[in-house]
Amino acid sequence: MPFVVLNDHGEVAGRITLSNIARGPLQSCTMGYWVAEDQTGKGLATEAVRAATACAFTEVGLHRVQAETLLANVASQKVLAKNGFKQYGLAPEYLKIAGVWQDHLMFQRLNGTG
Ligand SMILES: CC(C)(COP(=O)(O)OP(=O)(O)OC[C@H]1O[C@@H](n2cnc3c(N)ncnc32)[C@H](O)[C@@H]1OP(=O)(O)O)[C@@H](O)C(=O)NCCC(=O)NCCS
Repeated sequence: MPFVVLNDHGEVAGRITLSNIARGPLQSCTMGYWVAEDQTGKGLATEAVRAATACAFTEVGLHRVQAETLLANVASQKVLAKNGFKQYGLAPEYLKIAGVWQDHLMFQRLNGTG
């Protein structure tokens, strides 16, 4: 489920996507997002994550939303923490970023928590 992130002027400032939506006993998805560099620091990602997570739990009816960050991506870790996501692990060489398999911190929020 792809969404755009709008700034206060209604302009597209980024994107956020719920992907890998799994049904059956898992009822989970993965959330990914970015905000344009000149639009950062305004709380847009925090609000986008809040809205997308609410959508996942209410409209989509999921039990769990997962997100992962590079170890050095403190801004994204803050965005997740502000939305009640808890770190539950570290996945070695989880994603290939800029041609290199890189470790990621794993976060999740469960429906009814946070
Ligand atoms: C990470 C990203 C989504 C944050 O977007 P944003 O709209 O600036 O986020 P917000 O303004 O909602 O919140 C960012 C928080 O991180 C903090 N922050 C920003 N840079 C930081 C840094 N280098 N170190 C520590 N904290 C930092 C901000 O102060 C803010 O926290 P606060 O509200 O407590 O002050 C954006 O920088 C981005 O798109 N980066 C590139 C793509 C990316 O990393 N996507 C996420 C992949 S997991």
